[in-house]
Amino acid sequence: MSEAIPVGHPQPSETSAWVRRFLPLVAPGGSVLDYACGSGRHARLFAARGFRVVAVDRNAEALATLAGEPRVEPRCEDLEDGPWPLAGEVFDAVVVTNYLFRPRFADLLACVGPGGVLIYETFMLGNERFGRPSSPEFLLRPGELLDALGAGFTVLAFEQGVVERPKSAVVQRVCALRRAADSVALPSASE
Ligand SMILES: C[S@@+](CC[C@H](N)C(=O)[O-])C[C@H]1O[C@@H](n2cnc3c(N)ncnc32)[C@H](O)[C@@H]1O
Repeated sequence: MSEAIPVGHPQPSETSAWVRRFLPLVAPGGSVLDYACGSGRHARLFAARGFRVVAVDRNAEALATLAGEPRVEPRCEDLEDGPWPLAGEVFDAVVVTNYLFRPRFADLLACVGPGGVLIYETFMLGNERFGRPSSPEFLLRPGELLDALGAGFTVLAFEQGVVERPKSAVVQRVCALRRAADSVALPSASE
């Protein structure tokens, strides 16, 4: 997905409020996959809280900034072409931000282990009026993340609409569990 952040454009260093909100749901000391991590803003966030993080991206230069980061294993892999690099691996949490590649969605969901958490936030249709990404290939359709989750997931929280962060964008975001949510305390929102 080359359109979202044009070459030379700085990647955001602030972590996502949506990711921070649901981080407490991840089992303490658990394993986390930062999927298409870029320079690993969320890998660093989770590692700083004591989680073991696998940070995957195809951008070796961005991954190199994670070298030596305690508890972070950077992996340079192509998540779209070639053999699936995460075959058979499961994590207590999978975090995806600002990335969409539909053909691998089922593989991505399979990385959420039993009882695990999926925290996903990316752009959706409507974002084209504010800027990039603007191609429908990289923009979720209304409700698409909900539709993509199978019966094995319980949706804890879902939002879609315009946010200011600080630039206007249209995003969709979900937090879903691979377990029942009836005994889960909902973390409160704090932007
Ligand atoms: C907009 S950035 C988001 C980075 C990070 N998730 C974040 O929110 O800060 C999209 C990332 O997807 C990665 N990416 C694009 N295509 C990829 C592919 N085929 N395999 C692995 N990573 C890819 C890019 O290298 C880039 O780091």
